[in-house]
Amino acid sequence: MDLRNDFKLGMRRLASGVSIVATTDERGPKGFLATSVSSLALDPSPCLLVCVNKSTSSHDAFIRTQVFSVNLLAGRQVDIARRFSLPELRDARFESGAWEILETGAPIYRDALASFDCRLMTTFTVQTHTVLIGRAVAVRSADTAVEPLIYYDGRLDHNRAALSSADVSQHEFDL
Ligand SMILES: Cc1cc2nc3c(=O)[nH]c(=O)nc-3n(C[C@H](O)[C@H](O)[C@H](O)COP(=O)(O)O)c2cc1C
Repeated sequence: MDLRNDFKLGMRRLASGVSIVATTDERGPKGFLATSVSSLALDPSPCLLVCVNKSTSSHDAFIRTQVFSVNLLAGRQVDIARRFSLPELRDARFESGAWEILETGAPIYRDALASFDCRLMTTFTVQTHTVLIGRAVAVRSADTAVEPLIYYDGRLDHNRAALSSADVSQHEFDL
């Protein structure tokens, strides 16, 4: 077993919340599913980061528009998570679900556990990925805490095994 595989196996043990990261450019809304979201700092401006593979179809739109949203998904939202992670469902990503705008113009998913509307502060590149650092200019949270969607051991919604590791491994991503 090589180090790369050991790394991937180790990372399967990291339980992560799951988010839709989205923006809108002149051709319409676009976005992808991400686990690589982290709160970064609170003062003087609340900011977060997300790592996006340069090969992701929406990558350049985040740089061009300089705005993006991060929308945390609930446990019952496996279907929309699939749409945003499978390239063959790319065209259907915004077809259902209620989307709206807060401040920046980036699409905000109304049923998210919480949504962060961000302006891009800076980016840096690490190997295959661009790290987007966003300053949150508006935040909306659901009134009640409900079960989050969790990615663990190669599966979304691990308890219900709704998206199998086989589904995900076709679209392997490097974190
Ligand atoms: C659970 C899960 C988490 C993911 N997290 C990320 C991530 O943090 N960054 C990333 O660039 N891709 C991530 N991906 C892969 C993208 O969602 C996937 O490649 C998507 O199809 C890319 O969008 P595109 O089809 O528009 O190119 C993840 C996929 C899954 C299933």
